[in-house]
Amino acid sequence: MLNFNYSIPTKIFFGKGQISVLPDQIQKYGSKILLVYGGGSIKRNGLYDDIVNKLKENSIDFWELSGVEPNPRITTVRKGVEICRENKIDLVLAVGGGSSIDCAKVVAAGYFYEGDTWDVVKNPSKISKVLPIASVLTLAATGSEMDVFAVITNMDTNEKLGTGHEDMVPRFSILDPTYTFTVPANQTAAGTADIMSHIFETYFSSTKGAFLQDRMAEALLKTCINYGKKAIDEPENYEARANLMWASSLAINGLLGYGKHKNWCVHPMEHELSAYYDITHGVGLAILTPYWMKYILDDSTVDKFVEFGINVWGIDSNKDKYDVANTAINRTREYFDLLGIPSKLSEVGIDEDKLEKMAKQAVRKGKIGSLKPIDDKDVLNIFKAAL
Ligand code: NZQ
Ligand code: ZN
Repeated sequence: MLNFNYSIPTKIFFGKGQISVLPDQIQKYGSKILLVYGGGSIKRNGLYDDIVNKLKENSIDFWELSGVEPNPRITTVRKGVEICRENKIDLVLAVGGGSSIDCAKVVAAGYFYEGDTWDVVKNPSKISKVLPIASVLTLAATGSEMDVFAVITNMDTNEKLGTGHEDMVPRFSILDPTYTFTVPANQTAAGTADIMSHIFETYFSSTKGAFLQDRMAEALLKTCINYGKKAIDEPENYEARANLMWASSLAINGLLGYGKHKNWCVHPMEHELSAYYDITHGVGLAILTPYWMKYILDDSTVDKFVEFGINVWGIDSNKDKYDVANTAINRTREYFDLLGIPSKLSEVGIDEDKLEKMAKQAVRKGKIGSLKPIDDKDVLNIFKAAL
C-alpha cells in the first residue's frame, strides 16, 4: 500500500549558463559563505575563477575549504566547521562532485553541534540545526545535489558512514551539464554506475504495486544505459551529459522510493570496501552489483528480475523466467564492461585478508536489502565470489 509525504525542496537551476543566478540565490541567505571544493579540477576548468569573480562583483565575502578528498575525510570536515565558526558563515557552498557536497553538508551540520563532528556522522539524531547549504555540481553521480544524505570517512577507524537530516538538503543546486565536460572517462563510468545502483537499491524492493515508481526507475536506468558510454566517447556531448546529470538527481532525491520499503544493500557493502581500500565508490558498486544480483536470484525474486530484463534490457518475454533473469544480470555486467569498469575486487587491489571483517561491519545495523535481506555470511559469500 503506497502511503507517503512528498517533499523535495531543493531549487534546481538546470542548463548552460545558469551560474548567473548564483549571487542572487546566495544573497537570500546572507553575505558570508564558505566555498568547499576538491583537489583542483574547478581551477583547471575555469569554474573557480568564474565563481570568485561573481562573488567579488556582488560583495559576497568568502572563505575556502579546499582539497576535499574523494571519499571525504572527517579531518577535512572538522577544518570546515572551524572556519565557519570563526567567520560566522551564512551559507556553505559546495562546488564539485558528491565528495565536496557531502563534506559541505556535514560542515553545516557540525557547526551547531558542540561535541566532535564525527558524532553527527555516527549518530544523525544528534543533528538538530544545519547551516544553509547549496551546490554547483560538476560530476553526475551521487545525487547529493538534491538529497539529504552525506557519506564521510574516518580513516583512523576504517569507517565510512552515511548520515542525513532533512535540513541537510541543498537549498539550491546549479546543474550546468557543460561543467561535466571535463570529467575523465573513469569517473564518468563510475558516476553512471553509481546512478544505476541508486536506482537498483529502490527498484529491487519488497513493496509490490509501486507501478509508477518502477516505470520511472526503468526510464532512468535506460537513460544511464543510453548515455553513459556516449558521454565517455564524446565528453562534450551536451545531450549525454545533461541526461546523465538529471538522472543523477532524480535517482536518489526520494521520488523513486516514495511508499516503497527501503533497505539498501550494495551500498553498505561497497562502503566497507572504500573504508578499507579507499576505492572509487561507483567502481566498487559496479563490481559487486552483478554478484549480488546472482546471489539473491531465486524463486522469491525471479519475477522482479524478469520485469527488469524485459522492461530495461528488452529481453524476449517468451523465454524461460530464469533465462530472462540471468540474461538481464549478464547484460548489466556487460554494460559495466563497456564503460571500462573492472569486474573483480582483485583488480582494484582487494584480497581475502579483510573480507570477513568488512562483511560483519556491512551488517552492523542488521540484515541489509529489501527484496531479499542478507546477513554477514551472505555478504562474505558475495565478496568472495567477486574476488
Ligand atoms: O577533487 P577534484 O579535483 O574536484 O576532482 C574530482 C575527484 O578527483 C573529480 N572531478 C569532479 N568533477 C570534475 C572532476 N574532474 C574533472 N572535471 C570535473 N568537472 O572527480 C573525482 C571524484 O570526485 P567525487 O566528488 O569524489 O565523486 P563523486 O561525485 O562520485 O562522489 C563520491 C562520494 O560521494 C559518496 C560516495 O560514497 C563518495 O564518498 N556518496 C554520496 C551520496 C549522497 N550524498 O547521497 C550517495 C552515494 O551513494 C555515495 O555514497
Ligand atoms: Zn552511491
